[in-house]
Amino acid sequence: MYFVEIKFMKENLISLDIQRIYLWGFMGSGKSTLGKELASRLGYQFLDLDEVIEDKEEMKIPEIFNKRGEEYFRRLEQSTLQQIAGRNESLVISTGGGTPCYFNNAENMNASGFSIYLKVSPKALRKRLKAKELKSRPLVKDLEWAAIMDLYEKRQSFYENAHLIISNEHDIEETIKVILEKLGKI
Ligand code: S3P
Repeated sequence: MYFVEIKFMKENLISLDIQRIYLWGFMGSGKSTLGKELASRLGYQFLDLDEVIEDKEEMKIPEIFNKRGEEYFRRLEQSTLQQIAGRNESLVISTGGGTPCYFNNAENMNASGFSIYLKVSPKALRKRLKAKELKSRPLVKDLEWAAIMDLYEKRQSFYENAHLIISNEHDIEETIKVILEKLGKI
């Protein structure tokens, strides 16, 4: 039932103490929900990259896009990620849907930790991303569904650079169990 594909996993990676786990995936793929639960199971701290950015700027993401534009947001996202990557704590980090698709962010995450792409099909995303969820996401709030799906398709090649690709469409408990197994934690 579960589609679990290991794209890349160095033989010795699971025996290393992985300090940072980065969650990748399109908007609505469940990164924050799963991230909080995974962090608590591992005894790691949970960080939401968007929330760190919002705290830093003292503005919500839509406001940052409105007032400063996407380019500014992407730079901020990159520098915030670099700071997090340098932190000496055990962290589960939920990234933004665009994070692995810009600059050297994907390489940076893959070099400083373990990346997991939470894959969700267009059909499941359509159910999850209702008008309310889209409204809070400046990048897609004014787009038709077809244009959102174009973005989804374009991003696949970036997301596929993750160390582990796993479906996150069904029972979160099962997804977490598979991740913990792959990390050698159970
Ligand atoms: C974005 C996704 C958002 C947020 C920003 C841009 C994107 O995060 O970082 O609105 O480019 O896909 P979520 O994936 O948590 O919604």
